[in-house]
Amino acid sequence: MPKTATVNKSGRKSAAPPAAAAAAPSGSALDIKDNRTGKSYSVPVADCATRATELKKIKTENPDDSGLMSYDPAFLNTASCKSSITYIDGDKGILRYRGYPIEQLAENATFLEVAWLLRHGELPSQEEYDKFVHDVTFHTYVHENFRKFLEGFRYDAHPMAMLNSSIAGLASFYPSARNIFDETERNISIVRLLAKTPTIAAFSYRHVKGLPFVYPDNRLSYVENFLSMIARMSESKYEANPTFTRALEILFILHADHEQNCSANAVRAVGSSHVDPFSAVSAGVAALFGPLHGGANEQVLRMIQEIGSVKNVPKFIESVKSGEGGRLMGFGHRVYKSYDPRAKIVKKLADEVFKVVGVDKDLEIALELERIALSDDYFTSRKLYPNVDFYTGLIYRSMAFPTDFFTVLFAIGRMPGWLAQWEEMLLDKEQKIARPRQIYIGPKERPYKSKLKGAKTQ
Ligand code: CMC
Repeated sequence: MPKTATVNKSGRKSAAPPAAAAAAPSGSALDIKDNRTGKSYSVPVADCATRATELKKIKTENPDDSGLMSYDPAFLNTASCKSSITYIDGDKGILRYRGYPIEQLAENATFLEVAWLLRHGELPSQEEYDKFVHDVTFHTYVHENFRKFLEGFRYDAHPMAMLNSSIAGLASFYPSARNIFDETERNISIVRLLAKTPTIAAFSYRHVKGLPFVYPDNRLSYVENFLSMIARMSESKYEANPTFTRALEILFILHADHEQNCSANAVRAVGSSHVDPFSAVSAGVAALFGPLHGGANEQVLRMIQEIGSVKNVPKFIESVKSGEGGRLMGFGHRVYKSYDPRAKIVKKLADEVFKVVGVDKDLEIALELERIALSDDYFTSRKLYPNVDFYTGLIYRSMAFPTDFFTVLFAIGRMPGWLAQWEEMLLDKEQKIARPRQIYIGPKERPYKSKLKGAKTQ
């Protein structure tokens, strides 16, 4: 028998006798009648949510019943935290960092300004910004042992695998980072992660290419320095193309945070064990690597290359709809049920980059995929729109980044978000070690009877 439940704005409206009802709050409440026992409960509602632990009070007479749980594989409707970092309205296509619309930040801010904002909640003053830029700039070098570490990877190692293990490896160089409740230690770890990630990323790139590592140039801005470590050869000072520099800065800003996505959730969950931030953030890099998350940008380009020509697009769309062709990568989102606001900005940015380097040969295929998908009932009825990853690959390729490097660029951009989410989790008095419940569906107790020769049996 299903239980019945109604939300009650004034509270204390339970149909159950007072003795059976849990203490009701003065505010909004959810009245629940448990048809298994006939008991009624009043569960407080705040911020459009009920606490799942309130359900634990709902029990049968069975002594093995430890109370009602909520079952939500993949967190489809479970808030795991309260956060004041990023706001998304998925139906309206709104994204804001600390209240500032993403469009305004992308147009006007610098990446490090956004990184400061995400962590501190306010935009930096000139003095705060200058010090922050100085600190990040002067921590860009990595320990020389990193050369040997990276040289240990095969020539064809995926750069996300290298980044992931290198970020985790940083923990071995900075053991005092384990003092996570010491604010000074947190500050320096955060600065180190922001500063060293582009260096490690660029070293990984050069390793795969068989090129000598280029050391950071502290005369350059964050993005220019990254491009210098990627592309500089014998020049005494690398001069990045200003369109590329600005485009990458905007892309980093667009990727900087996205509330409780898979990788932020991984960082929070791993960080909740009170491990050091390098280890926690490496979990985020690992989560981002997956094709359903940040790895989608790489997969979009591979998919477009496989389609090969505009004339093959209708056939490909049909194969997606029938389930034979896999998913349309770069489409769909758990939260956005309209056009991803980041994708709109990326599409415009692509035009600007193409003005400099010429139109990408596969842009036509991407445009046709989008055109057909947006007019096809399969996609519209499921509210599947292009997400941030749909067009970024074409921009990265036109800047000559190899396909398997695309997700690394996403990771550099996402670093401030992971760090802000990690620190917010750590300082949130309500948070504890992340440890979900389960519904056990395995065998009941049974005696051990080994199938191995000569083994003892019960
Ligand atoms: N192509 C075809 N069908 C899709 C797609 C897609 N890209 N995405 C979702 N669907 C269908 C899915 O088959 C399901 O259909 P049905 O109801 O008939 O079973 C329905 O839409 C709902 O899908 P879901 O898997 O329940 O949705 P989700 O919220 O769990 O997944 C997603 C979200 C992003 C993982 C998914 O849309 C997807 O796999 N997209 C392709 C990968 C991608 O582009 N990922 C990048 C996400 S944005 C950047 C980031 O966060 O990293």
